[in-house]
Parts: sequence; C-alpha cells; structure tokens
Amino acid sequence: MKPAAPLKKVRKAVIPAAGLGTRFLPATKASPKEMLPLVDKPIIQYVVEEAVAAGIEQIIIITGRGKRAIEDHFDISFELEEELKGKKKQKLLEEVERISNMVDFCYVRQKRPLGLGHAINCARDLVNDEPFAVLLGDDVIDDEVPCLRRMIDAHEECSASVLGIQKVPRADVSSYGIIDAAEASRGLYKVRDMVEKPSPKEAPSNLAVIGRYILMPEIFEYIGKTPPGKGGEIQLTDALRLMLKDRPIYGLELVGKRFDAGSKIGFLKATVEFALKNPELGKEFRTYLKNLPL
Ligand code: UTP
Repeated sequence: MKPAAPLKKVRKAVIPAAGLGTRFLPATKASPKEMLPLVDKPIIQYVVEEAVAAGIEQIIIITGRGKRAIEDHFDISFELEEELKGKKKQKLLEEVERISNMVDFCYVRQKRPLGLGHAINCARDLVNDEPFAVLLGDDVIDDEVPCLRRMIDAHEECSASVLGIQKVPRADVSSYGIIDAAEASRGLYKVRDMVEKPSPKEAPSNLAVIGRYILMPEIFEYIGKTPPGKGGEIQLTDALRLMLKDRPIYGLELVGKRFDAGSKIGFLKATVEFALKNPELGKEFRTYLKNLPL
C-alpha cells in the first residue's frame, strides 16, 4: 500500500471581505465594514495580525465593490510615508511601514456577493492543493495565543479540516451554523453533522461555528458541487456537509473572547474592551466609564 502523502503546511489564509455589511448600514453604504476602526486600527487589521502571528505567509483577501480602502490600507503609502519622514514622526512612520510589510497580500474580486462558499472558491487558483486557513474579516478574537495557531496545531494533530467553534447560549443558536459532534479529546470534537441557523428546538447542540476554519483543499470540489441554498447563496456549511459524507471534519473549541464586529453591538463591545486594554487610553477611559451616570 502507498504511504499517505505527508500533510502540507498551512501557509495561506483567505479572508473573505466581499459581503455587503447590511447589519451596519448606513455606515457601510460607501465604506467597507472591515475598515471601521476598533480604537485605532481597522477591524481587518486585527484579523490579519492574528494570521501573521499564527505563522501564515500569504493572505488572500476576497474583496468586492466599494472595498478598495482595504487594498490601500495594506499597501505602501508613498506620500504619507514621505510626509512622516519629513516631519520626523518616526514612531508613526514605523507603524505605517509595518502594516504593508507584515506579510504577502493578494486580492481577488468577487464580482457579486453570492455567499461565503462562493467567496472562498474565488481563491481556488491561488490556494491550489494545500490546506489553508479562512478567517472572516469581521470576526475578532482576543486570545493570548493566536486562535488560528491553536487551530493549525489541531489540524496537524488530526490531519483533517478543523472548524473553530464556541458554545453559545441556546437562545442564540439561530444566528449560527451548529454542529452535532462527539468530543474526541479535550476541546476537539469529531463532527457528525451540521445545521445552518436552526431554531433552539431543532439545534443538535449549542456548539456554534465561528469565523475561523482550516480547510483541506478538497473543499473546492465540494463547493463546486454545492447548489445555491438559503438566499440564493452558495453556503460554506452546505459544502462542508457534502464533504462530511466522505471525509472527517473536526471542531476545535476556542477559548479566546470573540467579537462579531460586523454587528453594531459586537462592534461596541469590542471597542470598549480594546480601549480599556490600550496602554495610552485605558486608564482615562476607565475613569470616564466609571463616572458615567448609568
Ligand atoms: P456575513 O453575512 O457576516 O457578512 O458574512 P455580510 O454579508 O457582509 O454582512 P451582513 O450580514 O449583510 O451584515 C460573513 C463573511 O463572509 C464575507 C463577508 O464579507 C463576511 O466577512 N462574505 C459573505 C463574502 O466575502 N462574500 C459573500 O458573498 C458573502
């Protein structure tokens, strides 16, 4: 029997950021939600920094109409850098230069927002035949160890696709993809099935899929076979369910604090928590909050 091919390293990450951001209208009418600032950095920079800290070498961002600001943010900004040099603003210059030097960035445009599965499929030629990471461009996770690192480690252990999961209150299951799974080892679950946005009664568990994935490259074949589902979109959950018939999929319970920064309330919570942690602003902001007449 031929020995199994060694597992390829996870080097590439896809960040789908082509959605319309309707939950954040009117702020997102002309600017991408991924560029809304959490204290002093756009949301998507937190996501990119997590991927880089986890060892990712190339980031493929899926963009669409009105998303040019994302490309500009991660590109060099010649005029700004010259201006900062001239004014001897060394610290700001270093920060601005660091952003464009962090990692190798590529962009693919999704012409129409036809769903998360469709968005990921836009990166097919760039990813090719390697396992890869997916990070949703508006899901921010605050953890001591980059959450994506934990997922890559789990993927190397089980040699399969791994979904980031978190327990959510029963009442909230209808906002997520929910897995039916058996715990294989502490925090690592073998997925039996999954349902997209079930009612609390129908939900097989309260283990929700959140915006982090390590996917085996075969997922592209299954996305290709997935018909449009809810809202005429090609759903990643449907493609994962097809893949589950032939291949194992695991879920890793993530311990970090997750913020859905694409929703107004999630964005506000993230803003408050990151501001409190900020070395320059934290103290003053804490005092300000304490003195608010709540
Ligand atoms: P969401 O459903 O959270 O994002 O998709 P959305 O569609 O932008 O926002 P709302 O729900 O209308 O407020 C999850 C992620 O998938 C990306 C989104 O950009 C987001 O990061 N996505 C979704 C795409 O890139 N393309 C799509 O066709 C759909």
